Amino acid sequence: MAKPGKPSAVVDTRVIFCGDNLDQLRKLPDGCVDLIYIDPPFNSNRNYEVFWGETKEKRAFEDRHASTQAYIEFMRPRCVELQRVLKPTGSFYYHCDWHASHYVKVMLDQIFGENQFQNEIVWKRSSAHSDSHRYGANHDTLFFYAKGNNWTWNKLFTPYSEEYTDQNYRYVDERGRRFRVSDMTANKPGGDVSYEWRTPDGRTVRPYKGRYWAYSREKMKEMEDAGLIYYRTTGMPMLKHYLNEMPGVPLQTFWDDIKAVISGSEERLGYPTQKPLALLDRIISASSNPNDIVLDAFCGCGTALVAAQKLGRQWIGIDISPTACRVMAKRLRDVCDLREDENLWRRGHGFVVRDLPWTEAQLRKIPPFEFENWAVIALGGLPNKAKVGDMGIDGRIFPVSAAPKKEKGVMDFMNIWYPIQVKQKDKAGRPDIDSFEAVMTREDCTKGFFVSFDFSSDALSEIQAFFTKSGKIIIPLTVREILDEQIAMKLA
Ligand SMILES: C[S@@+](CC[C@H](N)C(=O)[O-])C[C@H]1O[C@@H](n2cnc3c(N)ncnc32)[C@H](O)[C@@H]1O
Repeated sequence: MAKPGKPSAVVDTRVIFCGDNLDQLRKLPDGCVDLIYIDPPFNSNRNYEVFWGETKEKRAFEDRHASTQAYIEFMRPRCVELQRVLKPTGSFYYHCDWHASHYVKVMLDQIFGENQFQNEIVWKRSSAHSDSHRYGANHDTLFFYAKGNNWTWNKLFTPYSEEYTDQNYRYVDERGRRFRVSDMTANKPGGDVSYEWRTPDGRTVRPYKGRYWAYSREKMKEMEDAGLIYYRTTGMPMLKHYLNEMPGVPLQTFWDDIKAVISGSEERLGYPTQKPLALLDRIISASSNPNDIVLDAFCGCGTALVAAQKLGRQWIGIDISPTACRVMAKRLRDVCDLREDENLWRRGHGFVVRDLPWTEAQLRKIPPFEFENWAVIALGGLPNKAKVGDMGIDGRIFPVSAAPKKEKGVMDFMNIWYPIQVKQKDKAGRPDIDSFEAVMTREDCTKGFFVSFDFSSDALSEIQAFFTKSGKIIIPLTVREILDEQIAMKLA
């Protein structure tokens, strides 16, 4: 893994900002980043659901025109900000698909200038996609723009296909190296290029009729001494090109050699919109240099940040979802061995997450499932992955007291758990407690946690009555209590 160098003097790097990127981008100075990659969710008002992958069925019922228009209106001011924060030598990649790609291209031409458009890259996501009554849509589109006329560019190559090497590299030398040959004559004379050439077996050869040698006699000699000349049976010298010295095919715009992240992929975190590291690796390698700053303003589970870190680039990530921010922080810790630590970060190492919602007012505004995740994680529990059909359980706590005894199987303690129910309500009432009691009875749990902003007095008496009747304990927790606890823990 390459080592990142010094952070930039004008902007903080190795930071994940939690929040709407429009607000976060406005805080960044002009011309401060070298490369931007974005992979925005198609439907702007379903951001969260897109991250959790619940959109496909809903899309089918939408008015396509209305959603495209809304999407472009949502993206335009963000792309204007992104263009502003890009350095004059910077590049911009917009990842999208057929839903809006044609409208996105027009919008980006307006923002960056039509002449700044460099490429439309087609990434073949899967071998086949089953679409009824039309062709299977199995690719994504990436638009590549340069901000100015002098952008960072590192030419990349892909290996030759077997078919190409079989057809072209047909010769093998005495050391087993494969090579192809090319003509050593030219049609434009310059200097002494019509001499007679002597082959190693003593024959004399001249260029074909009307042509000249492409090299001077000295150069020919030099190449022969280096073993770079192959002689045809006619004696005609040909220049050897060794396969192992060729860089490969310069990378083209059709990318079919990068697999999508699917179940079973080693890098998979379980989010349907996660992009493969190899894709980001390629973009970052081509369009930035070590220690350059890479920005992903819709960074999801942080693929661009991980790729940038691995390639020794600086990075900035922005995502509106606190869950996504936590997921990517964990990924950076696990995959890049990077520590999330304010003090370390101040000394130029590790990374930090900024602006996670920490106040009651902020927590009231985040979407319900984000709130559920926040509460469950704050209690040290595991959020329930299925957000629909969760049978009244938003998360589970596996108490430390149930850790395995030596003689028991390692996973036995997973059988002991306490349910967590979360309601993003001003006041949880008696009916809320009643349904949680039903869950506890059904699951035969002795203890459970209920989180809300407050509890009605009815709810609290019901909790007491339930304990008297069944011996089961429901612990009511307010958001304030959780926040105070976290602050206490933070100060500890
Ligand atoms: C398609 S996902 C990105 C996936 C990412 N490329 C990866 O490989 O993990 C889009 C992300 O954009 C985030 N998002 C949506 N609207 C946003 C906004 N206004 N500001 C910042 N992030 C936003 C969503 O929370 C989601 O995580």
